[in-house]
Amino acid sequence: MIPIKNKEGIARMRESCAIAATILNKLKELVRPGVTTYDLDQAARDFIAQHGARSACYGYQLGSRRYPAYSCISVNEEVVHGIGSLKRILREGDIVSLDVVIEYNGYIGDNAFTVPLGNVAPRVTELLKVSEEALYLAIKQAQVGNRIGDISHAVQTFVESHGFSVVRDMVGHGVGTSMHEEPQIPNFGRRNSGEKIKAGMTLAIEPMVNLGHYRTKTLSDGWTVVTSDASPSAHFEHTVLTTEKGPEILTIPRPSPASVSV
Ligand code: MF3
Ligand code: CO
Repeated sequence: MIPIKNKEGIARMRESCAIAATILNKLKELVRPGVTTYDLDQAARDFIAQHGARSACYGYQLGSRRYPAYSCISVNEEVVHGIGSLKRILREGDIVSLDVVIEYNGYIGDNAFTVPLGNVAPRVTELLKVSEEALYLAIKQAQVGNRIGDISHAVQTFVESHGFSVVRDMVGHGVGTSMHEEPQIPNFGRRNSGEKIKAGMTLAIEPMVNLGHYRTKTLSDGWTVVTSDASPSAHFEHTVLTTEKGPEILTIPRPSPASVSV
């Protein structure tokens, strides 16, 4: 069963998602040549603490492993779940996927995007553009009465029409009081398949798109997922609330009180 959030659950999801988005956007400001992915992760840790939130990544358990960082920072051929490292120094031409998942008041907000560092290869610029557009096309399908497969199908057809591939090994997901709730939301699939979308679902929709082949593998750290052919990969994610009036993106940054003009 896909959880349906009540009024209070929705209010709390709004809060946690706004915080997740604000942190993600603050993190983006720090992405520049010379910075290490460890620096970025430490900044994520600090921002999360400043908001009185908790990282949903830190300590996240998969089998016997616990995720050791506060955010996921994945560079170039890294698809997702990159662990910040002092050895990974960012350089002009890199693309950096930032993924921030936080818990606040018992509810989780999940969002991600990929940013380019200075000038990147034209085909990589295209990869980012197509991946982000795929996310918005997917969100458009999150309509009451549609099915989950409509989201999947929208991503796959658009991405593949541009000659890129969608990752098969990881999927989007429902999100709420836990990071991963039903349903799974693959980025590939058939129209009009899967569960029916109802109002009050909160869905983390997250295309992961490779420039080359869709195949991936996990590094020996047990977490970092990379493309098998070492081609660059992009990741864009929003948490979305389904309503009778259409999808509403919850992971929108909220300006801090100090920056609101009066
Ligand atoms: N956005 C990722 C997801 O939805 C976050 C993974 S958190 C980690 O699965 F702990 F696995 F790193
Ligand atoms: Co997610």
